[in-house]
Amino acid sequence: MLSPAAGEVVILEIPLDGDVPGDANLADNERRRLSRMRSEAKRREFIVSRDAMRRALGQLLGRSASEVAIELGEHGKPEVCGADFHFNLSHSGDRAVLALSREGPIGIDIEAMAPRRPFARLARRFFAASEIEWFEEYGEDDRREAFYRLWTLKEAYLKAVGTGLSMSSRAFDIRVDGALGELREVPGDLSDRGPWHLETVQLDGAYVVSICTPVGLVSYRRVTLNELGGGSP
Ligand SMILES: CC(C)(COP(=O)(O)OP(=O)(O)OC[C@H]1O[C@@H](n2cnc3c(N)ncnc32)[C@H](O)[C@@H]1OP(=O)(O)O)[C@@H](O)C(=O)NCCC(=O)NCCS
Repeated sequence: MLSPAAGEVVILEIPLDGDVPGDANLADNERRRLSRMRSEAKRREFIVSRDAMRRALGQLLGRSASEVAIELGEHGKPEVCGADFHFNLSHSGDRAVLALSREGPIGIDIEAMAPRRPFARLARRFFAASEIEWFEEYGEDDRREAFYRLWTLKEAYLKAVGTGLSMSSRAFDIRVDGALGELREVPGDLSDRGPWHLETVQLDGAYVVSICTPVGLVSYRRVTLNELGGGSP
């Protein structure tokens, strides 16, 4: 069952390398967005994940996927007005994940871990000063995982508050403690929101996934696309 219970986060896993659905479940503005995408990989990522997201939201709302009215928050965060649940989508590589919860707001981030990237340079560009110090304590062999763990925790927080690129990733500070992240410094206008629970829920050779929810959500449940029906509730 897809529906999240109180205190639960449901994570729907969406493979992006399978069959590509038609655009019948998409809204007109989503079709327009799709038509502007030049890269085949981006088109696939968008249509497969948006179709699955619409089917999931439709199931929770008791409507068909094409009837789900998705609105965008001030900085582009997709929302469904009046719904009694919260959701957030993320995609990377061949995978997307959709997080659903009764309590919110919620943010999720997935990253396919690249074997080699200029991690130290990226850390200096995107991390806050104390985060850079933490990252630089890691030796060459462990830097990749440390980088992706902190990166996805930061993205999950940015996506929970929904500010998108309007807030610098250096404007707040997360202390990593095992799988958990503790939010320490936040800009003044966001300090009355939360408290937040930040956690890396998957870290394997290929992908890392982190989630940000209000404190109090305790359990995670993974659901596969096979457990979703077609376009109608
Ligand atoms: C959209 C954004 C919030 C995340 O982008 P991303 O990590 O590249 O992409 P993800 O796959 O994780 O998430 C994209 C999805 O988030 C959702 N989304 C869009 N805007 C959002 C917002 N403001 N808040 C939350 N979710 C948002 C959408 O469902 C989107 O899917 P779509 O493109 O198919 O419509 C991006 O605007 C952003 O702010 N990125 C921050 C970049 C950065 O500086 N990172 C540094 C981290 S250290």
